[in-house]
Amino acid sequence: MVKKAKSPVTYAKMKGIVSYFTGKLKYLGYYSNFKMDFLRPEGSLSEDDGAAAVSKVSVADFDYLKVIGTGSFGKVFLATHRENGRYYAVKVLQKHIILTRKEVNMTLLKTLNHPFLVKLHFSFQTKDRLYLVLDYACGGEVCLLKRGGMACALGYLHSLKIVYRDLKPENILLDSAGHVVLTDFGLYKEGMSGCGTTRTFCGTPEYLAPEVLLQKEYDRTVDWWGFGSVFYAHSFSFQPPFYNADRLEMRRNIIYQPLVLKPGVSSAARDLLKRLLNRDRAKRLGAKRDLTELQSHPFFLSIHWDELVAKKITPPYVPLLSGPGDLTNIDPRFTELPVPQSLEACEEYGATFPGFTYINENILSLTRGH
Ligand code: ADE
Repeated sequence: MVKKAKSPVTYAKMKGIVSYFTGKLKYLGYYSNFKMDFLRPEGSLSEDDGAAAVSKVSVADFDYLKVIGTGSFGKVFLATHRENGRYYAVKVLQKHIILTRKEVNMTLLKTLNHPFLVKLHFSFQTKDRLYLVLDYACGGEVCLLKRGGMACALGYLHSLKIVYRDLKPENILLDSAGHVVLTDFGLYKEGMSGCGTTRTFCGTPEYLAPEVLLQKEYDRTVDWWGFGSVFYAHSFSFQPPFYNADRLEMRRNIIYQPLVLKPGVSSAARDLLKRLLNRDRAKRLGAKRDLTELQSHPFFLSIHWDELVAKKITPPYVPLLSGPGDLTNIDPRFTELPVPQSLEACEEYGATFPGFTYINENILSLTRGH
């Protein structure tokens, strides 16, 4: 049955209109200085373990239908699996870009399991590219910020000593039921404890914390700044705090300008924003007790957190969809891009990234037709 849709205006569409007037906001891949690292989830099958005789997945197993996202690493395609007919978001990363920029790979995604994070079903590689086959979040970018779910997803990552780092509106999507899901884990770094810090960073400047711009050490509190920035953008005309069309000016603003909160949001939201966008990361909301600290803020008073994570709370907006491969909520900036022919061709296998190839156990029965 067709689901109700309260508003056809997605965040992506609104942002398109706003960015028409404000100029391009993206400076992707600007702060990139990460090492590659590959992990494997316990119990998962990996081709590189020699376990994949029955489970080889390759580029030729999918039909690539549309471009649904672009980023500093490569493109994301809507694709169908030729055998099981399911729709997936296939993220294609160009090895040479990753290698030259030393950006972190997202294979830690294999180990992650949270209702508000996109799931990785397969990963494989060809000579030139890495492929990540993810759940297709067909609801598009989030129109009204699903603040609770997003905070939970970040808290979950932090509990695993992962800093998301790349929080920005285009990475916060809706699934078919209207639940928020975070995608694009390309830039996080594993192995960070609550008090551990690092100096490397990769991300979009608009949402970067001042300590990052100043190349000071940073920790997981950088995500609460990002959360505050996205929250702000959704609250005030789809622009991040401290926005300026001039990148240097914006950088200066993020570091030095006082936060201006225009009228139009509740006092609880204002207080939350002020606390999240605190330049002193030691005093920022979330610095001491991470997610728990946010959860007890008055802004979130009405949220039943356990029910939220159990997806027992009906999302306020359920996307209008004709089927699992529906593209109406995906920004036309992406879907109007051509799908390269070369994707269809089977490329020679290249072993540059040992440990990358992965097949989620849960999917094996589907691909084998059991
Ligand atoms: N863009 C990036 N990742 C995506 C996903 N998993 N689903 C839909 N669009 C995306």
